Amino acid sequence: MNHKGKVCVTGASGFLASWLIKRLLSSGYHVIATVRDPGNAKKVAHLRQLQGAEERLCLVKADLMVEGSFDKAIMGCEAVFHTASPVVAAELDPKTEILKPAVDGTLNVLRSCKRNPSLKRVVLTSSSSTIRAKEDIDPNVPLDESSWSSEELCETLGIWYVLSKVLAERAAWEFCKENNVDMVTILPAFVIGPSLPPELCSTASDVLGLLQGETQKFEWHGRMGYVHIDDVALCHILAYENQNAEGRYICSSKILDNDELVSFLSARYPTLPIPKRFKKLDRPRYEFNTTKAKSLGMKFKPIEEMFDDCIASLVEQGHLSLL
Ligand SMILES: NC(=O)c1ccc[n+]([C@@H]2O[C@H](COP(=O)([O-])OP(=O)(O)OC[C@H]3O[C@@H](n4cnc5c(N)ncnc54)[C@H](OP(=O)(O)O)[C@@H]3O)[C@@H](O)[C@H]2O)c1
Repeated sequence: MNHKGKVCVTGASGFLASWLIKRLLSSGYHVIATVRDPGNAKKVAHLRQLQGAEERLCLVKADLMVEGSFDKAIMGCEAVFHTASPVVAAELDPKTEILKPAVDGTLNVLRSCKRNPSLKRVVLTSSSSTIRAKEDIDPNVPLDESSWSSEELCETLGIWYVLSKVLAERAAWEFCKENNVDMVTILPAFVIGPSLPPELCSTASDVLGLLQGETQKFEWHGRMGYVHIDDVALCHILAYENQNAEGRYICSSKILDNDELVSFLSARYPTLPIPKRFKKLDRPRYEFNTTKAKSLGMKFKPIEEMFDDCIASLVEQGHLSLL
């Protein structure tokens, strides 16, 4: 095993972070993983079972809303992968429960990064929703990393999660420029793949719902990019390891309208009660330009592999039956 340096992952018990930690451990990193409650066995057992965890995984308590609480975890790390952010149901209070933890929490983590003399780079998990929620989209020109979603449109539509990601990423860029912190951001599309946490996160639950015939969430999602969870984890690591990496990276394999998605799913998994059609929403058509991520070495896994892996894991965990 090629032993690599010490890195920190925030929000470690989450869907994406757990997979990222699995990949970091398997490539030889020593991982300091932050969770809100390291004593909660239900939330951390899957992390402790990862290969290499016994020797090279350390869980540390930290909360986005507690100033300085990431200092202990981040000190001495060469990289910080900041994934923690509220990914939550819309019924929460947007200001205090979504926007504040996302923005203030990100700045809290970055202040700890600034205090850490060993830091080489921060890799921040943003979202492709930070580039595509806007009205002035030319359907003939794929969106690239120079695009930003409209804050006004997010407020009008009440899409507080998207607004939280826009505001958090913008605040992070401002902080990093002012304080000379090296940061790259990863903008994943909708993440599909096996869930290491046995309790499904919000987006994985939406996928399970769709596979069981629910229409509501995906009707609203409309046209979306999709990406395999393993590609998202790899993209974070490549963006850290490649010294020339800079700026933002869209991480998306394929964009599909929800009608295209369900037609693919029902043909591939005929025993599942996949919805037949969705109401057409009046939304601009867009594509993503993923040249930048490909220049890091990304070769995105296809939609078939994403859903085969996701469904196999849902079946194995007892969430779904194919019969
Ligand atoms: N899933 C997707 O399709 C997708 C797409 C694009 C971007 N992303 C981004 O990927 C990242 C991870 O999301 P995910 O899908 O893996 O969702 P997730 O499983 O809900 O992970 C979110 C993590 O953030 C942590 N967190 C939330 N509030 C916190 C707080 N106040 N203090 C400390 N930790 C807190 C959660 O900790 P607890 O477990 O303690 O609640 C959880 O570990 C997020 O930044 C999200 O915006 C996800």
